[in-house]
Amino acid sequence: MNGLRADAFSHYIAWAKLHSTARFNLAISGILDYPLAELPVRIEDLEIGGTGPYGYPPLMERLAAKARVPEECVVYTLGASMANFVALTALVHPGDEVLIERPTYDPLLTVLDHIGAKVVRFERRAEDGFQLDLSGLERRLTPQTRLVILCNLHNPSSAPTDERTMREVGVMAGKAGARVLVDEVYLETLFEQSWNSAFHRGANFVVTSSLTKAYGLSGIRCGWILAEPDLVRRMWQVVDFTYGVPVHPAEMLAVIALDNLGRVRDRAHALLETNRILVNEFLAAHPALECAPSRFGTTVFPRLSGGRTAEFVRILREQFETSVVPGEFFEDPQHFRVGFCGATETVRGGLERLGAALEMFHQLSR
Ligand SMILES: Cc1ncc(COP(=O)(O)O)c(C=O)c1O
Repeated sequence: MNGLRADAFSHYIAWAKLHSTARFNLAISGILDYPLAELPVRIEDLEIGGTGPYGYPPLMERLAAKARVPEECVVYTLGASMANFVALTALVHPGDEVLIERPTYDPLLTVLDHIGAKVVRFERRAEDGFQLDLSGLERRLTPQTRLVILCNLHNPSSAPTDERTMREVGVMAGKAGARVLVDEVYLETLFEQSWNSAFHRGANFVVTSSLTKAYGLSGIRCGWILAEPDLVRRMWQVVDFTYGVPVHPAEMLAVIALDNLGRVRDRAHALLETNRILVNEFLAAHPALECAPSRFGTTVFPRLSGGRTAEFVRILREQFETSVVPGEFFEDPQHFRVGFCGATETVRGGLERLGAALEMFHQLSR
């Protein structure tokens, strides 16, 4: 393929918007929304319009401090979605070879499709706990590779990539003359360790992230890109394709949220650890689901032994009022993704129904 594809679209996002909701929604991957009323903000504190041609200065200062980088290395975006779109648009030209993990977050593939990149895949295997396979990645790198893309934590499995492995990815890519884009939106769910960004692992790293997944602040749309200053200048030009005037109330809310991130983080952390116990008890009690216990992140990605996962997921939603993400959206149709980051009662109820649906499915399959 060579050139822009105007008809590219994300089947996954369309499904998530139109068909993922249910009474017990385990299809989500971000922490339950933080109540606006619990942020110390009054309507009189907000303004419609503000100044700051490329980023609202108080917000840029806080994002740079959070990531421990100079401000000239930061682009502010509306969520990690826009961060990925802007970063990929700036980094990849039509026909460029891009190496991206499988399974992955579908919109990354969609944007590459839209740009007209030549997409090459490297595998993360369930048998390896979806860890990065460095030798598999190295075999696929060529002098034509312009960019390597991965998510840390991995979506859908939540597998983490440690510092040493990340550094090696950077070195390998560097030898081929490529950069590495790491989507770190789930790294924030490690909370106090989230500062340990791949951006600090080598000069060829570009990082995207947001306050969406770990803090329940999706609606504020506070995202960012970390990159070297030359790239940052180009990325701000790409931001200019999308707006001239920012959503200033969102920028102001992001400043308030960042100033109070401790309390937002504590609530998210407590919720996640309570729910992780529930999901691990559930997995231990249901060996028909092949999945290691959860240690990180907000989701698990079990495999249903015996197959027919798509049918199971359909029955689960239609008869048990519970939704999970079908593995086909991650090119792994035998699996499904379970998010345990909602209200504890919702997670508990959803897991109970998941168990009942497994029992029924097992009886039907006999
Ligand atoms: C890997 C990954 N990146 C980015 C996003 C989008 O993040 P945001 O809500 O900040 O746009 C998601 C949301 O599911 C995701 O899973």
